[in-house]
Amino acid sequence: MTNPDLINKTILFVKEKLANAEGGHDWFHIQRVYKNALLIANGETCDETVVKLGALLHDIADSKFHSGDETVGPKVAREFLESESVSEAVITHVIQIIDNVSFKGGKTEKTFSSIELDIVQDADRLDAIGAIGIARAFNYGGFKNRALYNPQIAPNLQMSKEEYKNSQTPTINHFYEKLLLLKDKMNTETGKQIAQERHHYMQGFLAQFYAEWDGEL
Ligand code: ADP
Ligand code: NI
Repeated sequence: MTNPDLINKTILFVKEKLANAEGGHDWFHIQRVYKNALLIANGETCDETVVKLGALLHDIADSKFHSGDETVGPKVAREFLESESVSEAVITHVIQIIDNVSFKGGKTEKTFSSIELDIVQDADRLDAIGAIGIARAFNYGGFKNRALYNPQIAPNLQMSKEEYKNSQTPTINHFYEKLLLLKDKMNTETGKQIAQERHHYMQGFLAQFYAEWDGEL
């Protein structure tokens, strides 16, 4: 059984921390990931407390917005969980989830594995695809002042994490470089099923986008 007090306090803590976050990483992203994670957890044998804490804290201090420092998130999460007298085993597990959850390349060698990490990772990936994923991608592209699309710039799957972050890759390319690849990276059965539907929705969006681009509709 999860201690509802701990979860409620974690929700308040995360909401406050993310008060000024940009649209793709705000509290509502966390809320969607939390809901996805609970849905997926229903079909799995897992530690529900770890899944909930992992989902709520997974983006607590995204390195993209802290000049690339990847130690900030785990530190902030640890301090909070210690202040709530959470057991060291649970803290360590949640920190492992924060460290390993992101799909954004670079950290391709996974240093840890657990069903709870698999669930939170699937939940986070689901929020990067489908209608919400499309909205987040264009929001991020706008934040980076990138073009929507440029037929002369082909998608490039070979860029390093650093190159990718600093490139002026049009947002449509991000679909081929990341988003359309996610359905085959899902860990859980529930995650795979939902991803398949959202993948199909993105394919429809792209077909419509090119048709409109070419003045065909
Ligand atoms: P998360 O923090 O959820 O693990 P990221 O920080 O990598 O994932 O990305 C956050 C959101 O920004 C995702 O929806 C992702 O698709 C989007 N995003 C990241 N990089 C790009 C990009 N180059 N172009 C468009 N969208 C991007
Ligand atoms: Ni996230």
